[in-house]
Amino acid sequence: MAFAQVAWEKRRFGQTQRRDLWWLQPLLIFLGLSTFVVYTTWAAFQGKNYTFGPYLSPFYSPELFGSSGHAWFGPKPGWFPGWLPWSPALLILPFPGLFRFTCYYYRGAYYKSFWADPPSCTVGEPRKMYLGERHFPLILHNVHRYFLYVAIGFLFILAHDVWDALWFTDPATGAVHFGIGLGTLILAANTIFLSCYALGCHSLRHLVGGRFDLLGPARLASYRCVSCLNGKHMRWAWTSLVSVGFSDLYIRLCATGIWHDWRIL
Ligand code: FES
Repeated sequence: MAFAQVAWEKRRFGQTQRRDLWWLQPLLIFLGLSTFVVYTTWAAFQGKNYTFGPYLSPFYSPELFGSSGHAWFGPKPGWFPGWLPWSPALLILPFPGLFRFTCYYYRGAYYKSFWADPPSCTVGEPRKMYLGERHFPLILHNVHRYFLYVAIGFLFILAHDVWDALWFTDPATGAVHFGIGLGTLILAANTIFLSCYALGCHSLRHLVGGRFDLLGPARLASYRCVSCLNGKHMRWAWTSLVSVGFSDLYIRLCATGIWHDWRIL
């Protein structure tokens, strides 16, 4: 068999023979994720304008402690650190935040976009050594499966928020009646998108069918369903990221009177 010896040459950072727009996707991901992180951090520290009528921002749900009617256990607790600005979101957001941070898709995306490790396939990277995810600190990503359990619990809470968003209080009489506003539809769509994202998780796919040689009919159907969502995991990751941010923004702008909730029913 014919063969040729090719000398292996280490590429400098950014060096590549690619002629396509390989830098465009990492750049867009960098801009998209940066925008989301900046907005989410700002919104989480606001501590106000996160409810409007029956709507509750998903960044603040479940509102464990707080001053709105959605709070489960009453107002701000005495044990909350005094040096930290009070906001109910600070008790909630670390869980979905770490779920996304440890997600297999986002890891691949931000390793390229933020760490340039490598910036893209066959493009030179800045580091000389790669220890991988079997060493500290990246081995901590293995907690992803446990954040999945928490995320599934959040889906039930968000679904309950959609139910709550169907019941409006008449400010004149105080009577509660059924209704649908644009905010109801936005919260419902957000819960569907988040479900498609979380239920297509790689860890869930492994849990449902990856450990078995034979799958019964129910498990096989579940495995197919999770695999179907998993095949479009990147799409659901971005759709749900935009929808959860927009849900907060919509409620915030309604609460401050900049937008008016459109009542459909
Ligand atoms: Fe993305 Fe689990 S791999 S949510």
